[in-house]
Amino acid sequence: MKIERFADLEAVSRAGADEFVQLARASTGTFRVALSGGSTPKRMHELLAAMGPHALPWDRVELWFGDERTVPPDHPDSNYAMAKRTLIDPLRLGNVHRMEGERDPVAAAADYERELVAAAGAPPVLDLVFLGMGPDGHTASLFPGSPAVGERQRYVVANPVDSPVAKGKTTRLTLTVPVLCAARHVRFLVAGADKAGVLASVLEGPRGRYPSQLVEGSDVVWFVDQAAAKELR
Ligand code: 6PG
Repeated sequence: MKIERFADLEAVSRAGADEFVQLARASTGTFRVALSGGSTPKRMHELLAAMGPHALPWDRVELWFGDERTVPPDHPDSNYAMAKRTLIDPLRLGNVHRMEGERDPVAAAADYERELVAAAGAPPVLDLVFLGMGPDGHTASLFPGSPAVGERQRYVVANPVDSPVAKGKTTRLTLTVPVLCAARHVRFLVAGADKAGVLASVLEGPRGRYPSQLVEGSDVVWFVDQAAAKELR
């Protein structure tokens, strides 16, 4: 695991966008990317959209999602809605595999898993996975203490969550640790002073305490801004 520090969210976002471009251009065949939800990736999406449709081979890119809230696709909390507004619509992207948050979550997770395995194998090997990290050390929708954190057989599950970070009791659709670890490239984008304490614990503290610590692989890089990196040694 590597850590790259940047001045601010804008620089983190540009680094993430450049990484997407470089890795996609260097690939051959279908390039499968899982987008993260939350607010951090918005600016990266906007920068990618501003680069225009020819910055990378979008016709070979499949967009997947790391997780989704159990809301309709036009709901303000929908990760898909954010990606649609900031990236998919501006670039008129096809090849988008949406997690159907409006459906029964168990059925929607099973269907998404079937779709992902059919495309990327078992375990599904994604080319690039973007992840964020919450102030409690969660990533995707693997919240501390939630059942999905320990899931090692399934690839997509409906995860019952009860956390103030998730606005209380809810169910989330999420990729599981085996998928996040099978990815060829993982990029965490973390910014903001509110993440500084947990980032230091996740990256430098005892292992096995936070879901974000479970994401290991041959190329996991944390893109962090100075504010989030403040408590790192
Ligand atoms: C989600 C995300 C989640 C997010 C973190 C960080 O659905 O919310 O997948 O894992 O990456 O909560 O969120 P921010 O980027 O908003 O801080």
